[in-house]
Amino acid sequence: MTSFDANAFVLEHDQASPKNILKAAYQAFGELTISFSGAEDVVLIDLALKVAPKQDVHVFSLDTGRLHAETYTFMERVREHYAIDLDIRFPDQQAVQALVNDKGLFSFYRDGHHECCGIRKVAPLRERLKGLPVWVTGQRRDQSPGTRSKLQIAERDTAFGSDDQPLYKINPLTHWSSEDVWNYIRSFDVPYNSLHEKGFVSIGCAPCTRPILPGQHEREGRWWWEDQGGKECGLHAVNLPGTASTG
Ligand code: ADX
Ligand code: SF4
Repeated sequence: MTSFDANAFVLEHDQASPKNILKAAYQAFGELTISFSGAEDVVLIDLALKVAPKQDVHVFSLDTGRLHAETYTFMERVREHYAIDLDIRFPDQQAVQALVNDKGLFSFYRDGHHECCGIRKVAPLRERLKGLPVWVTGQRRDQSPGTRSKLQIAERDTAFGSDDQPLYKINPLTHWSSEDVWNYIRSFDVPYNSLHEKGFVSIGCAPCTRPILPGQHEREGRWWWEDQGGKECGLHAVNLPGTASTG
């Protein structure tokens, strides 16, 4: 079992750059597994490959079946650009079939997004994270004032890990703003999703993501028909009140 102290890691590295946070995480775990959503979190892949050998950097994406065509194109571009094995994960076929045959293709507009996200994202994520010690995500505090303002660069994930198999989440971009991310993308010629050229800021599934207007917060482009406060799809359940995230 990995002995890792998330609180000590935060104390030591909180002010470090995302690159140095990834470097320290790699030193602690000897591997990095990145979840890549097909959006700006591409910077994590670029940074990780600068601090760890390619064979120790694992990247996976959850294909919900409802992503934009542009996102699929972008994922392939990233795979080729970095010459990495992108592990694309799919939801359980029977579960999707039962949901869609029972409730149609757009049940989330009526019932809320949690049921569909549970089947298309959370269950495949749980499967992918099984047995892993470390999970690197592209979450940032500025993405969601409602749920991510207390995000830490390292935290124990009690939603997907267990006492026997602790899972630690590393969020290297915690303190970066959207502007910092874009400065990095431009400075290092990092490929990006062409949806960003069409007014999309935060990118998720096609039916649940829309471009935002000037002055709107990026989270307003996600699940806009729902209450603004608790917009998490379940991947980052530890951000929600009542779900413990401890060191
Ligand atoms: S979400 O929970 O609201 O969908 P968001 O789009 O903000 O998440 O992305 C935050 C981080 O969650 C991403 O940087 C990535 O690490 C992970 N993530 C979100 N969606 C996916 C996906 N489809 N595949 C893999 N990782 C994802
Ligand atoms: Fe389903 Fe929308 Fe969640 Fe995608 S974001 S899994 S389409 S509810």
